[in-house]
Amino acid sequence: MKRTLLTLCALLGLLSAAADEGMWLPSLISERIDDMRAKGFRLTAEDIYSINRASMKDAVVLFDGGCTGELVSAEGLLLTNHHCGYDAIQRHSTVEHDYLTYGFWARTRQEELPNKDLNVRFLVRMEEVTDRISAGETSAEIIRKAEAEAPGYRATVEQMYYGDQQFLFVYEQFDDVRLVAAPPSSIGKFGGDTDNWIWPRHTGDFSVFRIYASPDNKPAAYSPDNVPYRPKKFFTISTKGFREGDFTMIYGFPGNTQEYILSDAVDYVARLSDPAKIAIRDGRLEIITQAQESDPALRIHYAAKHAAIANAWKKWQGEVLGLTRMKTVETKRRQEETFARENSRGAELLDAMRAEYRRITTPYFAREITLETLRALPAKYTDEERAEAVFPARRETEERLFRWLFGEYARRCPAQYQIPEFLDGVAESGSPEAFADRVFEQVWAGGDAPLADSLRTGSKRMLDHITWLLGTDRLRNLTSKRLDGLYREYVHGLRQTWPERPFYPDANLTLRVAYGAIAGYEYADGEYHTPQTTLDGIIAKDNPEIYDYDIPQALRDLYAAKDYGRWGVVINGRRTVPVCFLASNHTTGGNSGSPVLNGRGELIGINFDRTWRSTMSDIAFDPSICRNIAVDIRYVLFVMDRIGGAKNLIKEMNIK
Ligand code: ARG
Ligand code: GLU
Repeated sequence: MKRTLLTLCALLGLLSAAADEGMWLPSLISERIDDMRAKGFRLTAEDIYSINRASMKDAVVLFDGGCTGELVSAEGLLLTNHHCGYDAIQRHSTVEHDYLTYGFWARTRQEELPNKDLNVRFLVRMEEVTDRISAGETSAEIIRKAEAEAPGYRATVEQMYYGDQQFLFVYEQFDDVRLVAAPPSSIGKFGGDTDNWIWPRHTGDFSVFRIYASPDNKPAAYSPDNVPYRPKKFFTISTKGFREGDFTMIYGFPGNTQEYILSDAVDYVARLSDPAKIAIRDGRLEIITQAQESDPALRIHYAAKHAAIANAWKKWQGEVLGLTRMKTVETKRRQEETFARENSRGAELLDAMRAEYRRITTPYFAREITLETLRALPAKYTDEERAEAVFPARRETEERLFRWLFGEYARRCPAQYQIPEFLDGVAESGSPEAFADRVFEQVWAGGDAPLADSLRTGSKRMLDHITWLLGTDRLRNLTSKRLDGLYREYVHGLRQTWPERPFYPDANLTLRVAYGAIAGYEYADGEYHTPQTTLDGIIAKDNPEIYDYDIPQALRDLYAAKDYGRWGVVINGRRTVPVCFLASNHTTGGNSGSPVLNGRGELIGINFDRTWRSTMSDIAFDPSICRNIAVDIRYVLFVMDRIGGAKNLIKEMNIK
């Protein structure tokens, strides 16, 4: 009896959501509001989310289907990250108007640039529909009814806690979103891939857009007759500054977390999946880096590719490190043992889940390897690519990538899931590399490429087969239809067994609130990281010889003249401009561009990253080291004002 009590206490300690962990549903935020207020929030639950009056949710948007943005003026002005606006900025860039390199500042509304295929979504309301679905209504019917309420409405039904609860989300979508401003990449992408996921950080990762609506303020396709959207709510900006320990809140659209998975799944991520994917990308990055170092034209050509491959590659390394450091597999095993004892169906349930993991792990792994290898190669090179001057110089690099990825597929993809077309090709050619050469020859030559086509068809058939085995095409993580059902029971059981523990549903690209504080972190004995960087740090990194650290001359001049205007502040006795800061908010991919708010709900920064050592927070959050990274709003304003000369924007916003 005494032992059970002890383990129970230990377990509660392990399970209780530690300070700052959590991504909370806005409509249920009243359950957290006492804790938030105790930590420094000054407003009410109704201020965060209300369907009766304007609230903070009306100033937050899902931007371009994968980022977050926030409204900062009565005329539809919106802030997000530079890396979220990157596609739009790039599409408007030409040799004569290179907005990526030099930045873009619309001086008038007429100069604001429309963007095809760019939309934003406001959350109109969310409501639980679990009962309606149990009563027999289908998601499709619920969605159809919601979308019929008003033009521009889009609805989805999303599962929380593996479907234990279902929520309807009704959005108002605006399709006329125009580019207003972007800093030069040497500010907006300062530090590039070198600094990505790294603290200390000095990236001015912001861009500015404006939402346009019909004259009656409703969603409308692009038209020159559209007018700036008048939002129900926009954020006031605070330049008053903050201290370590001050309350912060993030309101945005986190994409994907898996906080409740069994130790078996954590083990899969940390020991099998991440290490394999990292190793495959090691080789790709090495080949691409060598090409980039050999030829300036190739350096530019492969820049975006390199950045895309390196982003997840670095994140996975942090995830493995963090899960290992936290001993998440061991901790979860102990929790599972206790659950098996405390819950009457616990042992049976866990056995069933483990059996299902044994059934699905190999095919799911094969799927991941296939996507990272064969499916990462081009089936053909487009005519545009072929017409580029750099194309002939790419030949050797592309050939090496084919060889590397064919070899990795042969070595790593579980044999029973290797496609017959591949095995035949290797047998005929003598080795995966020799087969790669033959396939590459055809693809490079253009025209028909029967070998590549049959590999494509074969791998598609195999991926479809694996999807069929798993019983679902919702495969963002190691899961199956049967497992989803078992997890529904398991998480339900966890919530019943430990009612005092705060549970939040996994991120699924629905609107969430995360709250925490401005916070540095001590990673190891004596290794403390302060939470604020400044312009002085940019100048210290500045180096015209290094592409990622070559700042605009204008910024050097402002620094030399200490010409900071109203954006200058004194930090540690030195007059400077604040640039980035760290906080303990629980975030993930999709939170890029999210507003970082102070206790009064005023905008103090724009979220854009985490430290790589934090990235295990998608599975297990460690409050002592997990930190998100934001660009300080005062740096954003300084760049708009002093680099962009955008007095019009400064005037338009409400700055305190
Ligand atoms: N790591 C950030 C995020 O996951 C920023 C990525 C864009 N920046 C870059 N240097 N690649 O998405
Ligand atoms: N950069 C990420 C994004 O684009 C945010 C970083 C993270 O927390 O994963 O959403």
